[in-house]
Amino acid sequence: MMEKRTPTKILFPLYSILTIILCLMPSQTNSSTLQDDTLSLLAIKNAIDPNSITPSSYLSTWDFSVDPCESTGSQFLGILCYLPLDNSSSRVTEVDLDAIGYEGFLTPAIGNLSELTVLNLNNNKFRGPIPETIGKLRKLTSLTMSQNFFTGAIPQAITGLNNVRYIDLSGNRLSGLIPTDITALRTLSYLSLSNNEFAGRIPNLTGLWQLNTLDLSVNQFYGDLPNLPVSLRNMYFRHNILSGHLTPLKGLIHMKWLDVSDNRLSGSINGNVLSLRNVVHLNVSFNRFTALEVINYSLQDPSLQVLEAQGNHLKGHLPVNLVSFVNLTSINLANNQFSGSIPLEYGTKVKSSWRSLHLDYNFLTGNLPREFSHSTNVKGSLAKNCLKCPSNVGLCQGRQRPSSECVGQHNV
Ligand SMILES: *[C@@H]1O[C@H](CO)[C@@H](O)[C@H](O)[C@H]1NC(C)=O
Ligand SMILES: *[C@@H]1O[C@H](CO)[C@@H](O)[C@H](O)[C@H]1NC(C)=O
Ligand SMILES: *[C@@H]1O[C@H](CO)[C@@H](O)[C@H](O)[C@H]1NC(C)=O
Ligand SMILES: *[C@@H]1O[C@H](CO)[C@@H](O)[C@H](O)[C@H]1NC(C)=O
Ligand SMILES: *[C@@H]1O[C@H](CO)[C@@H](O)[C@H](O)[C@H]1NC(C)=O
Ligand SMILES: *[C@@H]1O[C@H](CO)[C@@H](O)[C@H](O)[C@H]1NC(C)=O
Repeated sequence: MMEKRTPTKILFPLYSILTIILCLMPSQTNSSTLQDDTLSLLAIKNAIDPNSITPSSYLSTWDFSVDPCESTGSQFLGILCYLPLDNSSSRVTEVDLDAIGYEGFLTPAIGNLSELTVLNLNNNKFRGPIPETIGKLRKLTSLTMSQNFFTGAIPQAITGLNNVRYIDLSGNRLSGLIPTDITALRTLSYLSLSNNEFAGRIPNLTGLWQLNTLDLSVNQFYGDLPNLPVSLRNMYFRHNILSGHLTPLKGLIHMKWLDVSDNRLSGSINGNVLSLRNVVHLNVSFNRFTALEVINYSLQDPSLQVLEAQGNHLKGHLPVNLVSFVNLTSINLANNQFSGSIPLEYGTKVKSSWRSLHLDYNFLTGNLPREFSHSTNVKGSLAKNCLKCPSNVGLCQGRQRPSSECVGQHNV
């Protein structure tokens, strides 16, 4: 077996050894590319607008007067082949195009490259639908088509890709629903559908039991947060129309990065997410949450570093127990309806570990904890509250609310 890569890529040592072995062998092998594969490559090239195939592009090196897999290193850039040791035909295993701005369609003939493991069309100008025949690529492990102009729905047949680990369809104009039987993709660990026009409810995804990263940001998904597999580590659901509570996230113990900002979620930000001890970054900002309930988590060794909850309807006193998150450095609770005074315990943190504290646009009252006067290491703002905020304190830059807005708040 021998593999051919584009010159920009590094050959694995194993392949080099096999290449040497092949060169030492009498050249009795006269394998050439399976005709179906060659015809598919030809169809791929023919579906691209010739004006967009610039002289320095990979596709300009696809010269069909020679055999694709037998050609020299400077021809057929962007493909990788499997060359068998017997006299059976060579097969195309990777199509990895350059991000040069190819304009055109993805031909249904792609489905005939039945040994394909990698298909990468990132950062081009492919338009039209993703062909249904993609589902025939049973050996595909990585499908990346991000930043193109693909339209239409995810083909139902995608559920046939039962070896796929990585799917990135972000930054297109895809629409419709996530197929419910996407859970058939048992080996999937990365799925990004962000920045498209998908809509509808998100199906129960618990069956994707190897899923590590799920990016559904900037679409129009609505309804409740879905049931998610416990394997999940990163979820990006920013800018959708999701509603309901955070309860479905309870028990996702491996979660590290959790972003559900800019949706219509409501209820309480509580132990359902705050007790997930691996979460490092939690962004629940710009929703309709009304309460932030923090208990003392110090014995759970929490990982939380960033808490973003700005732009909600959070009421009541600032939670004292925020100080129990030992690794917390950045807090944004701006644009809420917090009232009462700033807990004295925050003073110690401002002096030691907190680096960013945004509490502006609330209804906080009273004096600042003493340490705030020396809070030179902390960025942020306390403006637009009802505080007694000395103008020589850095965090006090910007005005407080006019007293007419502070009526009913104590200690004005
Ligand atoms: C290889 O070639 C030999 C002789 O031409 C033929 O008999 C044999 O069937 C071929 N094997 C394959 C796998 O094509
Ligand atoms: C795939 O290959 C088959 C068999 O050679 C052929 O009949 C068919 O037209 C090909 N499909 C496409 C979409 O080119
Ligand atoms: C979600 O799917 C899993 C596994 O397929 C199943 O066990 C569970 O009951 C489903 N949950 C709901 C709420 O339908
Ligand atoms: C949190 O989400 C909001 C809204 O999507 C965004 O503006 C902000 O930058 C995010 N915060 C961090 C720290 O990523
Ligand atoms: C907290 O931060 C320290 C220092 O960066 C790190 O060693 C430790 O593992 C962190 N703790 C958790 C629970 O992430
Ligand atoms: C949280 O609990 C720990 C251990 O019991 C204790 O040392 C710490 O003072 C508590 N923190 C707060 C803010 O009550």
